[in-house]
Amino acid sequence: MRTQVAIIGAGPSGLLLAQLLYKAGIDAVVVERQSPDYVLGRIRAGVLEQITMDLLDQAGVGQRMHAEGLPHHGIELLFKGARHRIDLQGLSGGKQVMVYGQTEVTRDLMQARAAEGLTTIYEARDVTLHDFDSTNPKVRYTKDGQTHEISCDFIAGCDGYHGVSRASVPQDKLHTYEKVYPFGWLGVLADVPPVSHELIYANTPRGFALCSMRSATRSRYYVQVPMEEKVENWSDDAFWNELRSRLDPEAAANLVTGPSLEKSIAPLRSFVAEPMRFGRLFLAGDAAHIVPPTGAKGLNLAASDVGYLSSALAEFYREKSDVGIDSYSERCLRRVWKAERFSWWFTSLMHRFPDTGEFGQKIQEAELDYLVNSTAASTSLAENYVGLPLV
Ligand code: APR
Ligand code: PHB
Repeated sequence: MRTQVAIIGAGPSGLLLAQLLYKAGIDAVVVERQSPDYVLGRIRAGVLEQITMDLLDQAGVGQRMHAEGLPHHGIELLFKGARHRIDLQGLSGGKQVMVYGQTEVTRDLMQARAAEGLTTIYEARDVTLHDFDSTNPKVRYTKDGQTHEISCDFIAGCDGYHGVSRASVPQDKLHTYEKVYPFGWLGVLADVPPVSHELIYANTPRGFALCSMRSATRSRYYVQVPMEEKVENWSDDAFWNELRSRLDPEAAANLVTGPSLEKSIAPLRSFVAEPMRFGRLFLAGDAAHIVPPTGAKGLNLAASDVGYLSSALAEFYREKSDVGIDSYSERCLRRVWKAERFSWWFTSLMHRFPDTGEFGQKIQEAELDYLVNSTAASTSLAENYVGLPLV
């Protein structure tokens, strides 16, 4: 098989890149290890920056997001038993975010690609990358007992943190940075109305909690748990009681509980691989970086990566220019590191760490008090939360 761009991974990065390339008249094939249902079964965050919304519109898949998504203009920080609203829209010069689940983004992208009759190879096994340091890279995979080869001009490694793309880069050409946090997030998805119309981020003596949502009838909640915690130790009732104990009296009274549709524990880490380009191989999304979910940046960074990459590849084919592909890694990493900083800062501010100590706890409380009473500090939170400009 021959194509212009071989994309490894049919998550949000791979599918959004494929759709943007299609709109630019560039041929691509997507190779995915899992089945479509497996990919759609992953429950992930759901807060879209305006830049991400604009890219979904550019990809021609924004209709349902605009129809069913929930525009949000603020968030609330809960600490010392009181909630403090951060006016995202007012502090960011009018920007907002859209609450719309990543599963729905992926579904919209999958359906658009299928509707155009474009090639996505699901359940591809033993994917390997070859000759990406030449101008004739190749991807090989097995399916139905047959080995297949895709020759291409470029490979996009959109295969996530555990993918094969980053693992195919010679280790002496890659530098990685990592921080693992000493706790996880126990999350529950349930068909119950959200406790509040905006997200609530809570810093409490029992640990962090987050009240989020997927729609007016489906809620997503998280509580911080020790990193060795096991999800099987948590009945639905135990989860609801723990969440309720971390809320203010009004929210605790308004909390509607119900059977969990999904319950899981996610570890928290910060991770960046540099650079993000190796000859004709480009890494994008979780294949290149991971953020703790506190700042809801994972999907948005994946989107901006593939926005840069699709523009660079369009420039290469349309104008025979290497300027975009040569600057891809530097442009992505400038935005990635600012989002890593914000996600680390917000995680450090809102969670209880085992080794904080009394002084550290007082500093955390002082920073929260300063944050909600300083326009300058709240503006900094707001402009990072709604998404910094593309560089
Ligand atoms: N071969 C083919 N496909 C693979 C391979 C492989 N060797 N390894 C992984 N994949 C697939 C996975 O099955 C998955 O569908 O690559 C896809 C990667 O998708 P994600 O992990 O969702 O990463 P990405 O598309 O970059 O999306 C980033 O997902 O994890 C969240 O918080 C993150 O919201 C962010 C978003
Ligand atoms: C979610 O809805 O899953 C969510 C929202 C905001 C976050 C993290 C997760 O910061």
